[in-house]
Amino acid sequence: MSNDEYIAFEERLMLLLHGSAAFQYVNAGIKLKIFCYYLDHERATFAELRSSSELSGDALECLLFGLTSLKLLRRNNRGEYLLSKGMVALVKSDFWQVFESMVEFQSEIAYMGQGKFVEALRKNSNVGLEYIAGSGSTLYEKFQSNDRIKSVFYRYMELYSKYAAKHLLERVSFRDDKRILDVGGGRGGASILLAKENEESEFVVTDLKFMEFEINEEVKKCGLEERISFEPLDILNDTFPSEFDSVLFFHQLVIWAKPQVEKLLIKAFRALRPGGRVIIFSSMANQEYSGPLMASLDSVYFKAIAAGNGMIYSWKEYFLILEKIGFSDLERIDCLGWTPHQIVVAHKK
Ligand SMILES: C[S@@+](CC[C@H](N)C(=O)[O-])C[C@H]1O[C@@H](n2cnc3c(N)ncnc32)[C@H](O)[C@@H]1O
Repeated sequence: MSNDEYIAFEERLMLLLHGSAAFQYVNAGIKLKIFCYYLDHERATFAELRSSSELSGDALECLLFGLTSLKLLRRNNRGEYLLSKGMVALVKSDFWQVFESMVEFQSEIAYMGQGKFVEALRKNSNVGLEYIAGSGSTLYEKFQSNDRIKSVFYRYMELYSKYAAKHLLERVSFRDDKRILDVGGGRGGASILLAKENEESEFVVTDLKFMEFEINEEVKKCGLEERISFEPLDILNDTFPSEFDSVLFFHQLVIWAKPQVEKLLIKAFRALRPGGRVIIFSSMANQEYSGPLMASLDSVYFKAIAAGNGMIYSWKEYFLILEKIGFSDLERIDCLGWTPHQIVVAHKK
C-alpha cells in the first residue's frame, strides 16, 4: 500500500470510528439553524451564527469546529464562515428539504435503534424498535399510538418518495393500465402522482386500517377521489383484491424478510389479470451484494428496527423469487441516480 493510500485509509478509519459523531454535527447544523442561515446569506460572522443558533459562544465554537473539520463549512481569511461548495449546491437545491427530512428520520427513528444492530443480527429480530414508544411489533404498528414518530416518518417518506418517484414516472408507462394496486402505499403519494399523469387509470391504495382517514384526506385534497380508493389491508395476512393490470410495491418489500417477500409476490401474482405485471420500485443492491454503499448502510435500519428482518435486497434476489412464482419477461431498470433506486418489472402470462 502506498503512503497516499494509507493516509486515505486512515481518514476513512476515522469516519468509521466516529461516524455517529459526524452525523450528530450534521443534525446539529440543521436543528441549530446554522445551514439555514445561508439560505439568505453568503457568509456569516461568529456573532451572526451565534444569534441564529442561540448558542453560547463555547457551544458554538465546538459546533463550528466539527462542521469545518467535516468540510461542510469553511473559514475565509477574515474569519467569516462560508458553506463549502458542495453544501452551497445542496442547501440551495430542491433536495435540501428532502435531506433535512432524511436527517430528522435518522435522528428521531433510526439512530438509537441502530445501536442494537449486533443484537438484532444475533437474534434475527428488530430489537432496536424498543427505543420507539408505542405498542406493536413493527415500527408501522407503533404509529397508531405514537403521533410524533408517525409524523416524522411520513414527512420523510413522502418527500423522499416524491423525489424518487420521478424515476418511475420517467421509465415506466402506466398509460395502458386501467387498474393499479399500490401495496402499502402510505398516504397515497405514489398513486396520487401516477393518477395525475395517467387520467384513465384507477388506483386502489392499501395500508393499515388506521391510515384510512389520512389517505382519504390526501386524495380529496387533490380531487382524485373518483379514481383513487383506499382498502384497509394487513398485507401479510389478508387476501389482496384482484383484477389489476399492475401491482406496485413502492418502497415496500425491503421492510420484510425473504419468506414474507415471496408471500407478498405470490399474492400479487394472484391479484393480477393475465397479461398484468408487478412493479417493484425501491433501493436495490447489486447482484454480488458488494454495493452500492447507501443500500448496505440503509439495511441496518431494516434489520434492527423497521419490521424485522428486512434489508435492501439485490435485484437478482427479486428475479429468483419472481421466476419461482411463475412470472415471466423479467426486466430491470437502473435509475442511475444519487440513491440506489432500481425498478424490477415482471409479467403474468
Ligand atoms: C416504507 S413505507 C412506504 C410507503 C409508501 N409506499 C412510500 O413509498 O412512500 C411502508 C408502508 O407499509 C405500510 N405497512 C407496514 N406494514 C403493513 C401491513 N402489515 N399491512 C399493510 N401495510 C403495511 C406502512 O404503514 C407504510 O405506510
